[in-house]
Amino acid sequence: MIIGSPKELQAGEKRVAMTPASASQLLKLGFECIIETGAGVEAGFSDADYKAAGVKIIKTAANLWKQSDIIIKVQAVNKVEEAYLNKDKTVISFFWPAQNKELLDRLVSSGCSQIAMDMIPRISRAQKMDALSSMANIAGYRAVIEAGNHFGRFFTGQITAAGKVPPAKVLVIGAGVAGLAAIGTAQSLGAIVRAFDVRPEVAEQIESMGAEFLFLEFDEDGSGEGGYAKPASPEFIEKEMALFREQAPEVDIVITTALIPGKPAPKLWPKEMVSLMKPGSVIIDLAAEQGGNCDLTKPNQTVKTDNDVKIIGYTDFPSRMAAQSSTLYSTNIRHMLDDLTPKNNGKVNINLQDDVIRGALVSHKGKLMFPPPAPKIAAIGKQTTPKQQVEPSAEEKAALEQAAIRKSGQQQWGLLLVGGLFMLIIGNFAPASFMQHFIVFALACFVGYQVIWNVSHALHTPLMAVTNAISGIIILGALLQVGSSGFIVTVLASISVLIATINIVGGFMVTKRMLAMFQKS
Ligand code: NAI
Repeated sequence: MIIGSPKELQAGEKRVAMTPASASQLLKLGFECIIETGAGVEAGFSDADYKAAGVKIIKTAANLWKQSDIIIKVQAVNKVEEAYLNKDKTVISFFWPAQNKELLDRLVSSGCSQIAMDMIPRISRAQKMDALSSMANIAGYRAVIEAGNHFGRFFTGQITAAGKVPPAKVLVIGAGVAGLAAIGTAQSLGAIVRAFDVRPEVAEQIESMGAEFLFLEFDEDGSGEGGYAKPASPEFIEKEMALFREQAPEVDIVITTALIPGKPAPKLWPKEMVSLMKPGSVIIDLAAEQGGNCDLTKPNQTVKTDNDVKIIGYTDFPSRMAAQSSTLYSTNIRHMLDDLTPKNNGKVNINLQDDVIRGALVSHKGKLMFPPPAPKIAAIGKQTTPKQQVEPSAEEKAALEQAAIRKSGQQQWGLLLVGGLFMLIIGNFAPASFMQHFIVFALACFVGYQVIWNVSHALHTPLMAVTNAISGIIILGALLQVGSSGFIVTVLASISVLIATINIVGGFMVTKRMLAMFQKS
């Protein structure tokens, strides 16, 4: 089969769905690759690069569509391209079927198959095809770079001969893919970063990136299905706004990414909040396309308010980093085609039993496939582990626990019996002074085993500190004995010093390695 990638027709779209690198992978899957001349130029890939990768260059879009069985694109087909569709064509692109119902109906009647890259379910297996996340990641990164471009100061604080520069304070609202990318970028540039999200489970991720999670005293979990948020109650939004009102005069840059799938963006930064901000502050509203999180946002424009606050509503952040986004997007598409070609024979097999393929397929052989059935596997963020999927009932659990307790009780009785018999036999032959020490030794071994074996991993560091202290006592005792007149005592004391020293040095080495894991390079 032939895969073709045309030049994008939407004004300002610089991305391309096939790169020379992705094409060479597609060739390995048994496909032939063709591209419209100049399709990759805006993303930094020349016709010569494609030719070198084994891709055929086609002069016109009409010819490319005619020759291709599978057309890979960034944006959904437009009126001109619709004319090329028929039952033998499969199109892979972003599509937004919920927002493009009429176009979808026309595609269904053309008989073509359409795979919407924005409909890939958020499940672990599909992460490599998750084009929305790839693009949101770039948008989050670019949002910080754009903010830096419009903000007249450093991100990082500095003390120079000319004076002290305070670090910029960045507030990120919504810590999904774009928000987390923005947090990471702003943090690495040295800003003080604060973030808020309705889903409390992201607090840990925010804090692990070195940013501060703004806690809200309100008992409501905003987590919805599929790793996305659900609409917050009006009371919650009110509390949230009160929190932001406190932040507004303090922060220099606000990056808003709050979104609930299928809904207009929640209004979280009203005009009043903008008026509280310092002159020179910047707001980047990533949700501009869905109406914006800020009241004053105008899509694709920069608005400057009377109090000198800039509000940026660009909707093309990924396209502003076309080389990077084309590389990631084409890789997402290549993985999708990999799944569609299980036999690596250059022939697409649309398997409707596959959750990912079925989820993304919106039109197939003249049939409307949207909306898809819910995926059988839970989404990332709300994922169940394989163990949880076969979770036993409460009664089964209790029975299993009882059986385990019974089994371990029997084992312990067995051990005690064997130990007792062993002691009896030794006691018959050994002197009384030996038995006294031997029993203390055996009990110490038993208690030590029980204590160490049952310590959870989280407590291994304090445990190591305790064993180091015990090793210290052993060394002290052994040093007192090492000068003894008895040869055996001297040898045993020397061995004790050696082993306890190894334990202490090992303990310090492990601790050093563990601490290094938490240090920034
Ligand atoms: P996402 O769904 O992963 O993240 C949105 C986050 O907002 C979620 O964590 C959600 O819990 C949070 N949220 C929802 N309501 C909230 C509220 N009331 N307060 C605080 N947080 C709230 O979405 P993703 O992929 O991170 O994208 C974020 C935004 O960026 C979307 O609006 C998306 O369309 C947009 N985007 C914009 C681009 C551009 O060029 N402007 C490019 C790519 C994405």
